[in-house]
This record gives sequence, structure tokens and C-alpha cells, in this order.
Amino acid sequence: MIVITGGSGFIGTNLCLTLDALGLEYRVIDKIRSSLCIEQRTDIASICDYEAIKKLISHNDIIVHLAAAGNVIESVKNPDTCFNNNILGTFNVLKVCKDVGIRKLIFASTGGAIAGNNSGLVTEETLPNPISPYGASKASCEQLLAAFSASYDMKIHILRFANIYGPYSAHKKGLITSIMRSIINNEELLIYGDGNSSRDYLYVDDLIRLIIFTITNELEFNKLNVATSKSLSINQVLDTTELILQKKIKKKYMMKRNGEIYINSLSGDLAKTLYGFQPKIDFQTGILKTFQWYEENLR
Ligand SMILES: NC(=O)c1ccc[n+]([C@@H]2O[C@H](COP(=O)([O-])OP(=O)(O)OC[C@H]3O[C@@H](n4cnc5c(N)ncnc54)[C@H](O)[C@@H]3O)[C@@H](O)[C@H]2O)c1
Repeated sequence: MIVITGGSGFIGTNLCLTLDALGLEYRVIDKIRSSLCIEQRTDIASICDYEAIKKLISHNDIIVHLAAAGNVIESVKNPDTCFNNNILGTFNVLKVCKDVGIRKLIFASTGGAIAGNNSGLVTEETLPNPISPYGASKASCEQLLAAFSASYDMKIHILRFANIYGPYSAHKKGLITSIMRSIINNEELLIYGDGNSSRDYLYVDDLIRLIIFTITNELEFNKLNVATSKSLSINQVLDTTELILQKKIKKKYMMKRNGEIYINSLSGDLAKTLYGFQPKIDFQTGILKTFQWYEENLR
């Protein structure tokens, strides 16, 4: 069985819907219940509760561990929540995996927040330099995962995601969600900093393809970036979105916020070299698909 922690969230929902479409069996462990069909496959439990999740995970399972407090700014405001859910939660998941002897664990890490500000291309070998509690929590988890893998012969794959966007992300607080809300609700978009800070934006379907490839194949990698290798500044994202959607965005520039990285360019070369993985959805197409979903679901 495939067990997805955090399966009711943005990436989890997209993953579950694709697994449904492929006819692959899975179960979700989450603190909240999704409103979609995934609901019937969800067990409500916190990954911070060892006994509760031990009952839900068994020997033959493949774990996709997505559950986390996933927001950089929230982690600066409330590092305790980040520490408890991300580091202690992941430690619990790992302890259960060791105790029941699971087959494989895939971990949702981050390319940007772990690397911190970096003017070069960030590869899997770039040393971590996090500047937020969130980035530090993911770097800590990666160390725990490596230690459990070596100590208990656990098969572990760390996927370092770029900035993911797409349908089912209305509860998120990132740039693309804020842009969609601002256009649909005709609200001012607050931009923190000068708009030149850059990120790698990957459409969610491309990420899901690589997660499913990792679930269904015996692969050897420990760490892999999942990225387009093309970073875009906030201003480039805004210009492209205005052009593609033929909408004007009301922008208000604010002071930059602590914890947010300024420059980050991820390299997706290793995934391409090892597995021929390349994103299929370019940014223009991804923004259009995302907007169509928001128009149908937010109005
Ligand atoms: N979205 C991105 O751009 C991005 C980028 C890099 C890494 N990631 C990572 O990918 C994963 C999924 O991200 P997302 O964007 O879908 O986030 P999300 O917030 O939409 O989903 C996270 C899910 O985890 C659940 N959760 C949180 N704490 C839990 C706990 N203690 N016990 C059980 N469930 C818990 C939440 O209820 C939520 O449903 C996270 O680990 C995140 O850090 C996301």
C-alpha cells in the first residue's frame, strides 16, 4: 500500500487524484480531511503521535511523507509549530518506519529554503545554508533520514521540490496563489521586496510524475532536485501572468520579509541525466491551467 502523510494538502491532493486515475491503491494520514473523494481513504492522525500512526503503517507500505508546516514566513513567526510538525513529526514517522520495517520512504524536501541565498546554480551537492526555521527543519529532517537509512537499512529518497504551483492550492500563501486571488477578487497584491527575488516555479503535474516514478520503480538516488532549472523573478512572474491572462495586477511593493531567500536557481540536471526527467508544462501553460482552476473554484 502507498501511504501518504499530508495527503489532504495541495501536493497530496494532486498526488491522490493521479493515483486514483492510475488505479493505484493508497491511504492518507492527515490532521485534516479533504473534501474530495480522497476523504474515504483518509485516517485522521497527527504524525506527532507515534502510537496513532504506528497503527496505520505496516511492513509492506511505501511512505510518501508530505506532512509538514510548509510556510517560510509562518515558521519565522512561530518556530515551535515548525519544529514540532516537521522535525519531531518526521522523527516519529522514521521511528515507525524502522519499527514496522517499511519498504521505501519518499520525503518532500525543498531546494530553495535549504540552500538559502545562493548566486550559483544549486545542485544536490550544494551545502545547506538555511535562513528560516522552515529551511532548517527540512535540512534537519534530511540528516535524520540519512542517519536512519544508514542505521536501519531503510530505502530513502529525498526529493527537493522547487516552488510548486497549480490546482488545489487555494489555502497556500505563496506568490502564485496570491496572484490568483488578487486577480479574481480584484485586490491589491502585496509584493515583499523589490520584485527581483527569484525562484524556480514547477507545475504540480510535473512533480507528481516524478513522485509516481519514484514510487513505482526501484531507484538508487538519495537526493534529487525536482526543478525546471529556469528561475524567474517576481517581476518576471507578474509580467508573464499579465500577458498570458490579459489581466492587470494591482501591485503594492512592501519591505522584504526576514526568512525569505532572495536568489535561488535550482539545477534539475541530475534528474534529467539519471532518469530523463524534464518538466513538460512551461510556465505560460502552467499559469493558464492554474488560473482556469482558480476561476472555477474561487469565484
Ligand atoms: N508547495 C511547495 O511549493 C513546496 C515546495 C517545497 C517543499 N514542499 C513540501 O511538500 C510538502 C507538501 O506541501 P504542500 O504545499 O502540499 O503543503 P500543504 O500545507 O498544502 O499540505 C501539508 C499537509 O500536511 C498536513 N499536516 C501538517 N502537519 C501535520 C501533522 N502533524 N500530522 C498530520 N498531517 C499534518 C496538513 O494538514 C496538510 O494537509 C510539505 O512537506 C512541504 O514542506 C512544498
